[in-house]
Amino acid sequence: MAAMPWLLLLCVAASGTLQARAQPDSKGFISIDCGLSGERGYVDETTKISFVPDAGFTDAGTNHNISAEYVTPSMAKSWYNVRSFAGTSAGTRSCYTLRSLVSGLKYIIRAKFKYGNYDGLDRKPIFDLHIGVNYWTTVNVSDPETVTWEEAIVVVPDDFVQVCLVNIGAGTPFISGLDLRPLKRKLYPQVTAEQGLVLFKRLNFGVTNAATFFDTVTWGTISTTSKVEHDVNKDIFEAPTAVLQTAIRPRNASGNLDFNWRLEPTPNDPSPGCIFILHFAELQVLPSKAVRELNVVLNDKPLYTSGFMPVHLYDSTAYNSIPFRHSGYNLSIKATANSTLPPIINAFEIFSVIPTTNLGTDSQDVSAIMEIKAKYQVKKNWVGDPCLPKTMAWDRLTCSYPPGSPTRITSVNLSSSGLDGDISSALANLKTVQYLDLSNNNLTGSIPDALSQLPSLTFLDVSGNQLNGSIPSRLLKRIRDDSLDLRYGNNPNLCTNSNSCQLPAKKNNKLAIYIVVPAVLAVIVSVILLLFCVLKRKKRSMNNSVTRRKEMITTYPPGNNVCTDSSLQRLENRRFTYKELEMITNNFQRVLGRGGFGYVYDGFLEDGTQVAVKLRSHSSHQGVKEFLAEAQILTRIHHKNLVSMIGYCKDGEYMALVYKYMSEGTLQEHIEVGSNHNASRLSWTERLRIALESAQGLEYLHKGCNPPLIHRDVKATNILLNARLEARIADFGLSKAFDDSNDTHVSTNTLVGTPGYVDPEYQATMQPTTKSDVYSFGVVLLELVTGKPAILREPVPVSIIQWARERLARGNIEDVVDSQILGGYDVNSVWKVADIALKCTAQMSTHRPTMTDVVMQLQECIELEKARGGDDITSDRFLSGNSGENPNLSYDAYTTNQSTNVSQNNSTFEMEHNFKRLPTMDTGPSAR
Ligand SMILES: *[C@@H]1O[C@H](CO)[C@@H](O)[C@H](O)[C@H]1NC(C)=O
Ligand SMILES: *[C@@H]1O[C@H](CO)[C@@H](O)[C@H](O)[C@H]1NC(C)=O
Ligand SMILES: *[C@@H]1O[C@H](CO)[C@@H](O)[C@H](O)[C@H]1NC(C)=O
Ligand SMILES: *[C@@H]1O[C@H](CO)[C@@H](O)[C@H](O)[C@H]1NC(C)=O
Ligand SMILES: *[C@@H]1O[C@H](CO)[C@@H](O)[C@H](O)[C@H]1NC(C)=O
Ligand SMILES: *[C@@H]1O[C@H](CO)[C@@H](O)[C@H](O)[C@H]1NC(C)=O
Repeated sequence: MAAMPWLLLLCVAASGTLQARAQPDSKGFISIDCGLSGERGYVDETTKISFVPDAGFTDAGTNHNISAEYVTPSMAKSWYNVRSFAGTSAGTRSCYTLRSLVSGLKYIIRAKFKYGNYDGLDRKPIFDLHIGVNYWTTVNVSDPETVTWEEAIVVVPDDFVQVCLVNIGAGTPFISGLDLRPLKRKLYPQVTAEQGLVLFKRLNFGVTNAATFFDTVTWGTISTTSKVEHDVNKDIFEAPTAVLQTAIRPRNASGNLDFNWRLEPTPNDPSPGCIFILHFAELQVLPSKAVRELNVVLNDKPLYTSGFMPVHLYDSTAYNSIPFRHSGYNLSIKATANSTLPPIINAFEIFSVIPTTNLGTDSQDVSAIMEIKAKYQVKKNWVGDPCLPKTMAWDRLTCSYPPGSPTRITSVNLSSSGLDGDISSALANLKTVQYLDLSNNNLTGSIPDALSQLPSLTFLDVSGNQLNGSIPSRLLKRIRDDSLDLRYGNNPNLCTNSNSCQLPAKKNNKLAIYIVVPAVLAVIVSVILLLFCVLKRKKRSMNNSVTRRKEMITTYPPGNNVCTDSSLQRLENRRFTYKELEMITNNFQRVLGRGGFGYVYDGFLEDGTQVAVKLRSHSSHQGVKEFLAEAQILTRIHHKNLVSMIGYCKDGEYMALVYKYMSEGTLQEHIEVGSNHNASRLSWTERLRIALESAQGLEYLHKGCNPPLIHRDVKATNILLNARLEARIADFGLSKAFDDSNDTHVSTNTLVGTPGYVDPEYQATMQPTTKSDVYSFGVVLLELVTGKPAILREPVPVSIIQWARERLARGNIEDVVDSQILGGYDVNSVWKVADIALKCTAQMSTHRPTMTDVVMQLQECIELEKARGGDDITSDRFLSGNSGENPNLSYDAYTTNQSTNVSQNNSTFEMEHNFKRLPTMDTGPSAR
């Protein structure tokens, strides 16, 4: 990467760059000499560029001078010293923040490295560079002597950009220099908000000192001292005239100009896209009969249908807009048949593309938290973007990552962090913060009124400081209307005695509750439910709220196992931190599916157990309730046919449930035609077994729990199958306890469930009963028999119940039974299941069987099926459960499409379409 950096020339010479805001220099340039001690910069004598020391751009690392043996007299001053980030560990980053940029503008960023054995260890490191939260490149310092340049052109989304060195466990990151140049918007149109370019090679041909990539044996040079023109309005690359004044040609007049290169895979992209830009300008006055016509041939395919002739002293550019993705590139500039002269080329840039789609945290949040960090001199791991990438998010912060909108900071915990001075007003700029803990510091001054303007703030702890003054009245108001939990104790000088600062008694009660609650999940859940309840009915008096709390606790007795443990021992649930979940799921990499409250991710515990992690999304309050309901139920119930919870996470605002992985996915995927090609077709015996096992799971909820638990959303997608196709009921988010004996129905004012499965009686009365689950289960049985969905779309939507009822009434089972059922089946057992299904889906709940009845009937069906020629159920299961042995085969629908070589199939025509050049022969150069 040591080729001639003509953009540097470009930026200095042609004032082709934008007149950006003068920070820190009048052209919008930033040129940092990293590791330069002191506060004074200098002007480089050769380039006349002003360099500044780096102390104002980073707060990490230490300065070092390179070893004397690598200092040469002609060496530019900026190579003398480096900043090194010793003491960082693998996976952590060290960043430079470049400020006062223009948001949305293109910038060239260049990082420079010369190791020079600055640490005396002679240990050449490898580390990653990031621009903002996007991977840029990997720096591999192969020897202490040479200098490495990395250059990228990106759109900077904010008015600042961070360049980070990421320790990847292969040595200490260091840096010698860092430059930034603004670019005109029209230049390099391939650079967009979503895509940046990383320089691979830049070649200025025909310059005597450009040693690399230059083959003087086979190439001769041509040059001119005349100015090479370009179309001022249309030129989108603006190579400086000095670059274009030299060119090469093959010495052998019938030879070609050949180049070949490969782009190494990056951690994120096994086959990085390639953009290249070729500059052609005729530098000779050609004799009258002479023709120089050439074509560009990539991997044996000409990029133009006809050749073109470079124009005298005028720059024409050939480039591709859409990246090529080839394993290797053989590029040849060839003379066409009509050409009497060999081909030429003046200059050549090759880039790889990087996605820049990852946006940083909301820029207002970033500015605020940076100000807070600076004010309190917070060190910890507070470098780079506060929330992203998730693996490097700042300690003591939590963030929300709403899909499609910017990441926001939602909690800041700076308790016991040695803070002093007053409470920073920047805290009031964290507009989405909900939780703010500043307790046990040395904060002085008063509590800023601005904090009362934070719309989402629900928890503020300033206790254990040296605060004075009184509590702002608007904060007091928020306490009174129950929208804020404020803790302010242990501030000896804070005015709390006068009336104006006294907190309402009601609040104190709530504080007391907080303190006595033990930290077991069931209790946390109860309290949160209680708070929901309290918040909802805040208008009632305080005494009532105490009674209501008792009611809530009786409904959901914490730690009291209301379900019989069946035959299984009670399992201990493990509590995970959010960080652990990140590790388990490899940073939430593979999505298994998506439920009502968010995504379900694939993961592995330390012991290799595969798990599914259901992470609550931050989007809906409905989700919280459902999530808590499920968490609570799952801590109480354990049955072989209910999905089993391994643990949970309640870490700040993160909530997640960790389940045993069910490799065969949902029942739905196995019965609905075409929904999953990899799902094996189920035999009748397997269907019967799945029906029985799910029925047993539901029976346990109805009979094993007191009061009975109503699932309320029984359907084929809520029945999961493991590798052995054993069925387990999942998704208890909508479940409700239902007390039969007292006849005190759980009354809800919203109907829940899934269309096609909802009990009409429940729909009419809004009172779910255990028979509502029986009805839904009847629909599942019909799906197992018919292989059709709960609502058929042919030709008008009709429920599977109606569809099957009509056909079965005509007495023909063949009409309804799924033609895809593998192997044979006993007609009697199919009839019997269909009959159970029709009984389950009776209009009146009193006519429906109980789940206990259903279980017994299904057991009889299995006996019938066994009697039919002794079909061995166990071996049958292993035969067809083939894909279950390899969990990677399932959930294919969710894995990303790995096709990386698509563009290799591009036809010549398509390439030509992508490969543009400025008009030369067609219209000729415009008049100048
Ligand atoms: C590097 O060298 C300069 C000048 O020779 C000196 O002023 C400076 O203190 C040195 N820096 C370090 C970190 O040794
Ligand atoms: C770093 O460079 C050395 C020498 O060029 C090479 O052998 C090594 O494979 C490179 N390492 C990586 C991770 O690219
Ligand atoms: C010149 O190139 C042509 C075609 O590549 C080749 O046939 C010929 O031998 C070359 N001549 C010399 C002198 O290398
Ligand atoms: C490039 O040329 C070399 C040698 O001529 C050949 O081995 C290689 O397969 C070519 N690569 C492509 C992508 O055509
Ligand atoms: C060569 O020139 C002739 C006449 O100018 C033209 O008809 C022909 O298409 C050209 N051939 C190529 C390969 O450009
Ligand atoms: C507060 O500051 C004093 C002295 O300035 C120090 O002794 C004490 O440890 C500090 N307290 C906290 C909680 O940082």
